[in-house]
Amino acid sequence: MELLHGLLNRASIQRLESPGPTAAQLEVMLQAALRAPDHANLKPWRSVMVAGEGLEKLGQILQQAQLERDPESDSQTLERCIKMPNRAPSILVLIASPKAHPKVPTAEQVQATAAAGHAMLLAAYAQNIGAVWRTGWVVSHPMIRQAFDLQEAEEIIAMIYMGTPSITPKPVPIVSSQEFIKHWH
Ligand SMILES: Cc1cc2nc3c(=O)[nH]c(=O)nc-3n(C[C@H](O)[C@H](O)[C@H](O)COP(=O)(O)O)c2cc1C
Repeated sequence: MELLHGLLNRASIQRLESPGPTAAQLEVMLQAALRAPDHANLKPWRSVMVAGEGLEKLGQILQQAQLERDPESDSQTLERCIKMPNRAPSILVLIASPKAHPKVPTAEQVQATAAAGHAMLLAAYAQNIGAVWRTGWVVSHPMIRQAFDLQEAEEIIAMIYMGTPSITPKPVPIVSSQEFIKHWH
C-alpha cells in the first residue's frame, strides 16, 4: 500500500530550501536506485552529489558555459546561470556510464539509469524530501561534462535537485489511462 501511494502521488517540487537530504536519507535513495530494473545487473551509472560550495562552483562553471554558448549574453542571463544551482541545497548528478556488453546495448543501459533516477525520486518522496529532475542544455555542455569527469561514452541523465519542500505541491493531475493501453488478442 505504501509503495502504491508513492507511485501514484509523487510530484516534482520546484521550490526547495535547506536542509538537503541527510547522509542516511541519501543512502536510502541510492539503495532504491540499486534495486531498479537493470539488464545483466550492470549498474551502468554513477552519481555525484553537489552541495555547499560545490553549488557556487557549479554556478560559476554554468556562467562560463553560457558565455561560451553566447558571448553576447546579457547580465541578466549570466546572473541566472550563476544562481541556477542555488535553487536547491543539494543536486545529485546522475550519469549513465554504459559498459561494453555482448547482450546489453547502450540504449538499454541508459534506460536502466533512468529507471534508477525514478527510484531515487520515489525514495526521496517517501522520506519527505522534495525533488525535481532537471536537464536542459547544461547536461551536455562540454564544460559541465569536464567538471564531472565524464568519459566519452557517459551521459548526464539527470540533475536531481533535492531539498526541503518550501511549497505544498498541487494535487497530482488525474489522467485517463485509456489512450495508453490497448488489449491485443
Ligand atoms: C529526462 C527528463 C528531463 C527533464 N528535464 C526537465 C527540465 O530540464 N526542467 C524541468 O522543469 N523539468 C524537467 N523534467 C520534468 C520534471 O522533472 C517533472 O517530471 C515534470 O515537470 C512533471 O512534474 P511531475 O513530476 O510533478 O509530474 C524532466 C523530466 C525527465 C524525465
